[in-house]
Amino acid sequence: MKRGIECLLNPALQNIATYKVEGGQQAEVKLNQNESPFDVPMWLKEEIVGEFIKEPWNRYPDILPYRGMHAYAEFLGISPESVMMSNGSNEMLYTIFLACLGPGRKVLIPNTSFSLYEKLALLLQSQIVSVPMLPNLDFDTEAILRTAQDETVDFIVISTPNNPTSKSLTFDEVRLIAESSDAIVLVDEAYIEFSRQRSILELINELPNLVVLRTMSKAIALAGIRIGFAIANPTLMAEIAKPKIPFASSRLAEITITKVLANYSLVTDAVSFILHEREKLYTALCSIEGVEPFESDTNFLIIRVSNANVVFQSLRSAGILVRNVSNYHLMENCLRFNVGLVDENQRLIENLRCQKFPCSIP
Ligand SMILES: Cc1ncc(COP(=O)(O)O)c(C=O)c1O
Repeated sequence: MKRGIECLLNPALQNIATYKVEGGQQAEVKLNQNESPFDVPMWLKEEIVGEFIKEPWNRYPDILPYRGMHAYAEFLGISPESVMMSNGSNEMLYTIFLACLGPGRKVLIPNTSFSLYEKLALLLQSQIVSVPMLPNLDFDTEAILRTAQDETVDFIVISTPNNPTSKSLTFDEVRLIAESSDAIVLVDEAYIEFSRQRSILELINELPNLVVLRTMSKAIALAGIRIGFAIANPTLMAEIAKPKIPFASSRLAEITITKVLANYSLVTDAVSFILHEREKLYTALCSIEGVEPFESDTNFLIIRVSNANVVFQSLRSAGILVRNVSNYHLMENCLRFNVGLVDENQRLIENLRCQKFPCSIP
């Protein structure tokens, strides 16, 4: 008798859903993936492509993207041995989780947080120690500290500022978590450019268990090119990079990041615009009856409405695509949308004003 396919697969697959983006990835006003509303300008794209066509496309790139790593290390003012580049930060998450987890290992994940963390922990058959956020979506720092000790976790992963709650830990809180635990602490700083808090990066040589993750998909506006980085002290980096897929970053990604970092004022200008628009959006949202906005430390905002499914569909029919995050813990009837261009933000606000919300949110 032949065994069924299910018996042959990783048993963890039964607890994992296929990744989907509700509403798809196309819309007139696309605000559902926390991307930058600004594409790389044409003159810079042409410069990048001009370099790229001089490369040998028939030859593998370097085993690891050393050119990109050097460029980012120089940009940060740290040693290249502290930096690893990946094909999006998601790829780096796979690498670091593979390096740190396995059956019998315990990982602390604040709940709610970026969904890939849980998926990877489940795939690697590790035990998830979940620490709920507070009802206002803030991190429960005391509970994180206490649970890390009580449960002797091996690995802690924190997205700060956090997706999807849009809240941050302070610099001192992150330091305290990493200092008071002997677990490896991965701090995902995907949205750090939009934060009021300082990056924890300066402590990588002081804290031997600290790894910082950065993506180039948000503030740096390169989601389509797929670039992420991990930063840690060289000793830890040499270990956590061992499971990395060789040749995962293309020559195009290395050239692109080098050129974009050399023109970083494009990023700082975009970030200033986004922060300004975020404040405008927050103020406008506060004035809409039936909408409860949460103050954000990222390039996106969370609102609570009386019926998120209805509002999601109604916005979708009006050509506006947001993310329905209602299924996440503590985020019942919440929607998430990133800051867009001025017109896009206005259109969103106008549409929300026209919704027929009941007088109060239950
Ligand atoms: C907290 C966080 N980490 C990592 C990522 C992955 O980014 P990428 O793979 O595009 O670098 C995202 C994307 O939304 C995110 O929100």
